[in-house]
Amino acid sequence: MCGIVGVVGKSARDIILNGLTNLEYRGYDSAGIYLNDQNGHEYLTKAVGRISNLKEKLTPDEQGLVGIGHTRWATHGKPTVDNAHPHFDETKRFYLVHNGVIENYAELKKKYLQGVKFHSDTDTEAVVQLVGKIARDKNLDGFSAFKEALKLVKGSYAFLLIDNTEPDHVFIAKNKSPMMLGIGDGFNIIASDAISVLDQTKTFVDLQDGDVGDITKDSYTIETVDGKKVDREPHVLNIDPNAASKGAYEFYMLKEIDEQPGVMRHISQDYLDENNGTKVDPKIVDAVAQSDRIYILAAGTSYHAGLVGKQLFEKYSDVPVEVGLASEFGYHFPKLSKKPFFIFLSQSGETADSRVVLKQVNERHLPSLTMTNVEGSTLSREATYTMLLEAGPEIAVASTKAYTAQIAVQAVLAKAVGEKKGVQEAKDFNLKHQLALAAEGMQQLVDGKEHIDDLAKKYLADTRNAFYIGRGIDYAVALEGALKLKEVSYIQTEGFAAAELKHGTIALIEKDTPVIALINDPATADLTRGNIREVEARGANVMVFAGKKFAQEGDDVVLPDIDYCLSPLLTIIPAQLLAYYASKNKGLDVDKPRNLAKSVTVE
Ligand code: G6P
Repeated sequence: MCGIVGVVGKSARDIILNGLTNLEYRGYDSAGIYLNDQNGHEYLTKAVGRISNLKEKLTPDEQGLVGIGHTRWATHGKPTVDNAHPHFDETKRFYLVHNGVIENYAELKKKYLQGVKFHSDTDTEAVVQLVGKIARDKNLDGFSAFKEALKLVKGSYAFLLIDNTEPDHVFIAKNKSPMMLGIGDGFNIIASDAISVLDQTKTFVDLQDGDVGDITKDSYTIETVDGKKVDREPHVLNIDPNAASKGAYEFYMLKEIDEQPGVMRHISQDYLDENNGTKVDPKIVDAVAQSDRIYILAAGTSYHAGLVGKQLFEKYSDVPVEVGLASEFGYHFPKLSKKPFFIFLSQSGETADSRVVLKQVNERHLPSLTMTNVEGSTLSREATYTMLLEAGPEIAVASTKAYTAQIAVQAVLAKAVGEKKGVQEAKDFNLKHQLALAAEGMQQLVDGKEHIDDLAKKYLADTRNAFYIGRGIDYAVALEGALKLKEVSYIQTEGFAAAELKHGTIALIEKDTPVIALINDPATADLTRGNIREVEARGANVMVFAGKKFAQEGDDVVLPDIDYCLSPLLTIIPAQLLAYYASKNKGLDVDKPRNLAKSVTVE
């Protein structure tokens, strides 16, 4: 969480503000900027809320040739102006922005910073005060003091530091939090991700954990904290900047929902050949085929995609699967099978909860794979193997196309592994055809979005709570549908196994409680109809999304035919749309729901 941007050598203000706006997905409860014109003038401005508030506060003369900025997702201390970054040391010589969490900040304060006056409740301020103290006590230059301080700091960080006695440098350090160095012509940029500054450069240096750097307008030096030089070669990033733009859409979320048919085609082209064969790195296929159990770890929406993945791998690869919430698994490892294989599902590839598990997997020398949408992301670098989701940049905080991409890519791997093992179901699984059906079906469903808007207006406009119910694979989708609705519309929604409702929770059903029932499971379709009648009898307003084979007159959405294990690819589309319209119709900021961040780099 939190986004950072630093610039040296070019009018920094606009680049930083644009970059921070693009990084708002990482947090948006407060923001701040420090600018220095390298001519004796410096400016520090902070504001609570969005970058737009910060922009309004800045006066025209606040400009700089070097600067650092920050958009915050509060961890230590409330979102106030004082707690917003950049933070500074007692003598106002050093200015620091930080993404991450300093685990030993209290200890640092107690041990080294007694008597120092603090202005904020943040963990970050302890670090900049420490740099200042070391520089003063040991009479060190800024970079040396920074490195000395880093030796004492424990935790995750992407730091950008400016020493106003040398305002033609930005000093940087990275550990566990993402940070890229962008190389310009006569200027350099440092940012949490590359996309945020793509309008300035396409040449980037991937920074690694442990890197410390001294960046000027036309040079960069990367070294370890002990001063050992490290070579980091720049590379050109091939991303179309338009892929990350909203185009004619009011919100990214709808754009990304609409993009899903294209994502299915893309995955089909990239991962399947003309004869329905799979194109997956044989090393990955061999490693999974040799395992006796797959452990899928993830958080949030990715976890829900993992629940679908379990069904795919068990059916088409004939291997048992355990799905875990990374945050739970990380500290309570179950008894593992003899030959486990770990799959990390993560849109961002940065989720700290998942990294905790992966670290232990690596310590045990066990094989792992990250399925992620972000090439070069931390989880992808740290796992044995990577498969990319190829969904294109996902900007809205609520994940949509990354979810369906995760299901599709898991299907590809499940088939590849099953074929390798000679599983008949995998050989018969015409995934090329199924992904084509998914793309067509998704298109049909997004084309019918006005109908979903009507449902949202009719049933969700005034409600405080709602339920999704389903059985079998629909239960997994019910969880994701409920998460979508609650995160963007703030309607308290529970995803429930349809039959389980009657064992207690049905007490919450009253007149007009919206219940969305999902029906794709051949084994339980009739039973779910019975569960619908139970809630209707208690006054619920029921919306039914049913597969074509199970649909009845009066159902609200009829889902086109598709393989049962892939039905979530279609069932989720009206659920995503319902969440989108419920939020939009309430006038909320659909793309940036309160309290959330897209890339959650704290545990
Ligand atoms: C955050 C996001 C969710 C996402 C979850 C896991 O909570 O708001 O949309 O599902 O993190 O993120 P990941 O990047 O690992 O898929």
